[in-house]
Amino acid sequence: MTTKTVLITGASSGIGYAIAKRFASEGYAVVLVARRKEKLDAVAKELKQKYATPVTTISHDLSAHNAARTLYTKMGELNINVDVLVNNAGRGHYGQCIDLDVEMEEETIALNVTALTSLSKLFGKAMASRHQGHIINIASIAAFIPGPGMAVYNASKAFVLSFSEALHEELRASGVGVTASCPGPTESEFFELAGTDKMDNLKYAQMMSADVVADEIYTAMIKNKSFVVHGASNKLVTMLPRTMPRTLVARMVKALMK
Ligand SMILES: NC(=O)c1ccc[n+]([C@@H]2O[C@H](COP(=O)([O-])OP(=O)(O)OC[C@H]3O[C@@H](n4cnc5c(N)ncnc54)[C@H](OP(=O)(O)O)[C@@H]3O)[C@@H](O)[C@H]2O)c1
Repeated sequence: MTTKTVLITGASSGIGYAIAKRFASEGYAVVLVARRKEKLDAVAKELKQKYATPVTTISHDLSAHNAARTLYTKMGELNINVDVLVNNAGRGHYGQCIDLDVEMEEETIALNVTALTSLSKLFGKAMASRHQGHIINIASIAAFIPGPGMAVYNASKAFVLSFSEALHEELRASGVGVTASCPGPTESEFFELAGTDKMDNLKYAQMMSADVVADEIYTAMIKNKSFVVHGASNKLVTMLPRTMPRTLVARMVKALMK
């Protein structure tokens, strides 16, 4: 049996690192992509030792111009066929939208939206030509609700969910699966980097373990679910816009994001 390969973006920490362990434990060869080379090398060493699986690391800034095409070309040069693509790399910033740096938020959109879209299109086409493969896009429960306090982040995740659901349907007959994963608050470096330490209410958030989220993502892929929301209380949050006026939901989120 030939070894399958998974490419995971944002595999140097948090949910991406947990996903890398989960796939390695299933015998996948793993391609780890992120910017911090030393972190990727440490993850690679751990995966090789623990699971005796082939690991390739690629230090790459996915918010750079043409980042997706460069990565896709690199995979061709390395002669690596990607069976499963996990678009996990993402970031967000906390604050009043008009006060947050314009260039910084453009980079967030380039990473969360542009790179994810182009990687899905490029690898999705290659997978469809082989009539097999799977794309996993990490969205968020933020995809279901507007986010006063993290306006660009929530909007980017709404894009990821909508795009993934559409792609799931488009590719259904091709043998390629597409799944959007929607975690709620999960243990990772995300909150520190997002600047949410300024948020008083964060201490009330119930953090899920990244390993549990990764396990549920793997199961959702096997079942070819179009999307999965992780955790019971997070499922409840995603129901809000379906039961309440949207203006009220936005006001409630604004109050919670204090
Ligand atoms: N944690 C949560 O509560 C939560 C909830 C819902 C959804 N999510 C989503 O889950 C995904 C993973 O985030 P996380 O929570 O695991 O946070 P994290 O620990 O900060 O991980 C983010 C990953 O993305 C990589 N990354 C960031 N900018 C990059 C860039 N420009 N180019 C390439 N890689 C980049 C980071 O590596 P380098 O810094 O080494 O590049 C890191 O590996 C994100 O899409 C996030 O939006 C998280």
